[in-house]
Amino acid sequence: MIGGSANNAQLADAGAAWWHDAVIYECHLPSFRDGNGDGIGDLDGLVASLDYLGSTLGIDAIWTGPFYRSPLLDQGFDVSDYTDVEPTFGTLDTFDRLICEAHARGLRIIIDYIPNHTSDQHPWFVESRSSLMNPKRHWYVWRDPAPGGGVPNNWMSEAGGSVWEWDDQTGQYYLHSHLKEQPDLNWRTADVRTTMLDVLRFWLGRGADGIRIDVAHMLMKDPGFRDNPSAPEGNDNMFDLQHPDFGSQLHIHDRRHPDTHEVLAQIRAVVDEYPGTVTIAEIEAMPWEDWARYYGSAMDGMHLPFPFRLLETPWRADLLRFELEALYESMPDGGWPTIALGNHDRVRLATRLGAAQARVAAVMLLTLAATPCLLYGDELGLIEQAVPIARQRDYFARATGGVTRDPTRTPMPWNGGPNAGFSTAGESDLWLPVAHNADDVNVDVQLTNPASFLSMYRDLLRLRTASSALRRGKIAFLPGTSSRDSVLAYLRTSPIDQKIVALNLVDAPTAVRVPSAGTVAISTTARGAGETVGPVLRLAANEAVVIDVPKELRHEDH
Ligand code: GLC
Ligand code: CA
Repeated sequence: MIGGSANNAQLADAGAAWWHDAVIYECHLPSFRDGNGDGIGDLDGLVASLDYLGSTLGIDAIWTGPFYRSPLLDQGFDVSDYTDVEPTFGTLDTFDRLICEAHARGLRIIIDYIPNHTSDQHPWFVESRSSLMNPKRHWYVWRDPAPGGGVPNNWMSEAGGSVWEWDDQTGQYYLHSHLKEQPDLNWRTADVRTTMLDVLRFWLGRGADGIRIDVAHMLMKDPGFRDNPSAPEGNDNMFDLQHPDFGSQLHIHDRRHPDTHEVLAQIRAVVDEYPGTVTIAEIEAMPWEDWARYYGSAMDGMHLPFPFRLLETPWRADLLRFELEALYESMPDGGWPTIALGNHDRVRLATRLGAAQARVAAVMLLTLAATPCLLYGDELGLIEQAVPIARQRDYFARATGGVTRDPTRTPMPWNGGPNAGFSTAGESDLWLPVAHNADDVNVDVQLTNPASFLSMYRDLLRLRTASSALRRGKIAFLPGTSSRDSVLAYLRTSPIDQKIVALNLVDAPTAVRVPSAGTVAISTTARGAGETVGPVLRLAANEAVVIDVPKELRHEDH
């Protein structure tokens, strides 16, 4: 087999926990690059983009997005066969080629593992719903109506409406935490576990370097199916794209049952059969001490629990500092975080913050003590593109009138050609329309401009790679300014080098005192590299700087 586990072993030798040093790139396959001209991004398109990702941009690992057989009602998160590739995206051979070509360039491939639910077209569900006596009946969650009739409890789905769907043929309801076409698997059934763990072996054995576990916090529900309490007034979260029905209750029984950790430890044990592989857990925003439990009680859980709480923190220096300090404080011994500021389910960073602050955010993302996870297109400052209803793909919105995630997921703009180089298909056949400003915001045009977003990302990625302080150094937050929203500053220190990072989060000049003078390594504004600054550091409006502190200038080592 091409690209087998031997490749993993080889890469693993290069350094045990490679992901401590890595930058992960979320490509979201259908939106990335179309290799066969049908208008939808695919594995061939991803293979054709590896040189861009590796040598041009400088990331280390690619999180692919789902590519399994699927009716594609939820961009592939509705799987109808876990061990085959959806023909829209390629074949098993294309996957093998992806592994081989990526590994040849020193890039890792992280795939999606979608254990909470299947598609209703999955043969397991077709069997399960066929009769009460079917051996696969308990592979899914079936319940009788409530005593007086109606749904078994009050749980609300992320896509809006009840999580329960009535099945006339067998006279029971089945549970679907998302779309009704996405029935939840029942992880309390032993055969489900064994079969789903074998799915992992299938892909890790083929050379995948890790998994991103979809809604990992949802695998185990309250076995008593108790009602969720209703939410207090004002529970709405400004960044939450879920349906308002969902926000009407506190989701304490339909997810995050303590048994979830036992399942995740089983998943981790299988991942550990393949040395050098990583587990990223998609878990919803929660208090940091709960988040930290996902590392496992004996560090036998997830390597990198996803930090949604940070994505939901308003862009204010004091609040970000508070959350980051809490994150680092809650981290168990031997734990290491991943940081993300954008994601395929959330509003695009440059839309949420505006272009100038999206540049500041880039500096933060790539200079914290964590593995950064970067959403495709954010390196170009891609913004949300309104998608007319007739072109929308997100069934969450189409089915229920909820908020669509399509504007975040428009095609990657590669160049100034037709469809921004994403696809050779006719415009109306594109998966989603290309952003209207793709003539200015695309890879080719930004590569020629040293002041572009892309050039800044490339510089930051190179700086991070070259600096042991930025990759693995300790982090200490510095006092900001007296204005609570303006400056977030921190010191990164390794035995070899030291960097000061200062981020001006507002659109006005300001000044902060930093522990030492130094020279500018990178600034998001016109300031040139090499300028001597500090210890009183004047920052332009929306300016973020990384300052190199030469050994002889250090006042104190933190
Ligand atoms: C995760 C995915 C999201 C998907 C949902 C259901 O939250 O990130 O895109 O819709 O799971 O699978
Ligand atoms: Ca295609």
